[in-house]
Amino acid sequence: MALKITVIGTGYLGATHAAAMAELGFEVLGLDVVPEKIEMLQRGEVPMYEPGLEDLLRRHVAGIEGASGRLRFTTSYEEAGAFGDVHFICVNTPQKHGEYACDMSYVESAFDALAPHLTRPALVVGKSTVPVGSAARLAERLAAAAPAGADVELAWNPEFLREGFAVQDTLHPDRIVVGVAGERAEELLREVYATPLAEGSPFIVMDYPTSELVKTSANSFLATKISFINAMAEVCEAANGDVVKLAEAIGHDERIGKKFLRAGIGFGGGCLPKDLRAFMARAGELGADQALTFLREIDSINMRRRGHMVELTRDALGGGGFLGKRVAVLGATFKPDSDDVRDSPALNVAGQIHLQGGQVTVYDPKGMENARRVFPTLGYADTALDAVRGADVVLHLTEWREFRELDPATLGDVVAERRILDGRNALDPALWRKAGWSYRALGRPKA
Ligand code: UGA
Repeated sequence: MALKITVIGTGYLGATHAAAMAELGFEVLGLDVVPEKIEMLQRGEVPMYEPGLEDLLRRHVAGIEGASGRLRFTTSYEEAGAFGDVHFICVNTPQKHGEYACDMSYVESAFDALAPHLTRPALVVGKSTVPVGSAARLAERLAAAAPAGADVELAWNPEFLREGFAVQDTLHPDRIVVGVAGERAEELLREVYATPLAEGSPFIVMDYPTSELVKTSANSFLATKISFINAMAEVCEAANGDVVKLAEAIGHDERIGKKFLRAGIGFGGGCLPKDLRAFMARAGELGADQALTFLREIDSINMRRRGHMVELTRDALGGGGFLGKRVAVLGATFKPDSDDVRDSPALNVAGQIHLQGGQVTVYDPKGMENARRVFPTLGYADTALDAVRGADVVLHLTEWREFRELDPATLGDVVAERRILDGRNALDPALWRKAGWSYRALGRPKA
């Protein structure tokens, strides 16, 4: 009989995973404790912007015309326990308030709520990003609380999906990593992932702690790569070099690679920043803090980028204060093709300038609603053209395709001053300069 799957937590990770599991042919029950989210999903609506996810969802949600009907949603743990053979835990693990450490309370609540309903053999699979050591602890907790006892196994199966590519990354993962304590868990996960495995996705089996570390070390490496190139951008600025050329040149070395070498205002989002910090905190608890002190520097290089962007803007405006100056900000989300503004460098820069007296108007293709919620006192415009109207300087802070396709001449007609600062090194300097703009970017020569 085909396995029945539950997915607990329906945020970016869970909603995508649930829809993808239905696409792979399984009967799926998604669970969330927020009833509004469940109602939306049950109508085939995704509570966030993620390309392709709504289509995927609508192909499978029961009750939608033409859908396979393999995907349903609930708020009941009792129903989830009775339904599933494999339970994926996809709840979030944010940074604790006022601390670097990871807040495990959602993971713990999910385990505690599910366990009493596990009355027959089942596999619980953690996908949330957790501090190393969590899986071993949760396995004990599960065995003690589940009526089926030792017939309930735990596996850890970290997720590497990128926002904006979540559907593709889930259906066609570049690797499947599983931390297990027994062969049965491995067998079941091979069954769950049979389709991507047949397509050739590597399947890497290991113990719990290694699987937890794979996730945090992957994100730390990515963050290190970005901060490395941003450190080079600082040196380029001091030496009048060009970090874009530098990145292109070193990227040809296959050992270095071209990807994740785009200098700019740095990384943000719900993962990289908090994962670095939680990793440092956990290493400290384990007595291995020295091994990760370099991550403190990675974090501070990254946070410096935001302040630097503010100073570059001040400089472009003549070096005085921001009072009475109109600043247009293109981009609010932490990356393009997402509506996520969590720890967004773009919104942070906009906020800093606003708090220093600048009149800031923001436009973002998808992030306006979330940005307004986080920063209601900023000005918002409905289009890029409206945002730049009367601006003394324009800041390009999230690299949406829409911004690369803007016509510098059209924008030039409505701004007060043709000045643009590219915080993402994603616009074509020659194009803007030809249209009479002064163009400056982080880590590139002034002229
Ligand atoms: C990141 C990882 O890339 C995923 O593999 C991982 O699964 C995910 O976190 C997670 O832990 O769930 P994501 O947060 O979607 O994915 O974002 P990234 O694509 O990694 O970008 C992070 C930030 O780095 C963005 O603000 C982006 O603008 C910035 N970035 C990226 C740069 O500044 N330069 C670059 O060259 C690349």
